[in-house]
Amino acid sequence: MGRSLVIYYSRAGENYVAGDIVSLEVGNTEIAAKAAAEIAGADIFEVRPEREYSPNYSICCKEAKGETDEGARPPVAEYPDVEGYDTLIVCYPCWIGTMPMFMFTLLEGIPTAGKKILPLCTNEGSGMGKSESDIREACPDADVAYGLPVRGCEARSARPDIERWLRENGVV
Ligand SMILES: Cc1cc2nc3c(=O)[nH]c(=O)nc-3n(C[C@H](O)[C@H](O)[C@H](O)COP(=O)(O)O)c2cc1C
Repeated sequence: MGRSLVIYYSRAGENYVAGDIVSLEVGNTEIAAKAAAEIAGADIFEVRPEREYSPNYSICCKEAKGETDEGARPPVAEYPDVEGYDTLIVCYPCWIGTMPMFMFTLLEGIPTAGKKILPLCTNEGSGMGKSESDIREACPDADVAYGLPVRGCEARSARPDIERWLRENGVV
C-alpha cells in the first residue's frame, strides 16, 4: 500500500445508456472514480481536455472517432503532479473501443515508470475495449494491472466491484 491518485475524465451531458440517449447530470465515470477515491482514500484529479467535446452524443462520437482514427493526441489543460504516488487509478469512458485520445496525451506526458496503474473503464458493452493493452503500450515501464470494466448505467451500484478490485490489487 502506498499513496494513490485517481485520475479521471467523465463527460456529463447526452450519452448512450442502456440503449437510449439520455442526458446525464453527472457522468458515469465520475461516479465510479469518486467511489474508487473514497474507498482507496486517494487524492483525485479531473482531466480536462483543452477543447471540450460536444454535449450532443452523435456529434461527440464523430469528434472522438476522427481523433481515434488519426491516433491524435489532443492537448489537456493541465497535468497532475504524480510524484509521491505509487498507484494511479485511471478512470475513463470507453470511446470508440479504447480511451479518449487525450487520455493518451496525459499518460504519455507524466512519469509513470515504476508506478502501478489500475485502469477502470466505464462502457456500454465494449468492456475495457483495447484500452488495457493501449495503456501498457503508452506506459511501458509501469506495472499495469488488469482493468475493471464498469457498465456505465450501473456505475452507482458498482461500489462492491470497485472495492474488490482495489483489494485484489493491494490498494486497500
Ligand atoms: C464519443 C463516445 C464514444 C463511445 N464509444 C463507446 C464504445 O466504443 N464502446 C462502448 O461500450 N461504449 C461507448 N460509449 C459509451 C460510454 O463509454 C459510456 O456511456 C460511458 O459510461 C460514459 O461515461 P461518462 O458518462 O463518464 O462520460 C461511447 C460514448 C461516447 C460519448
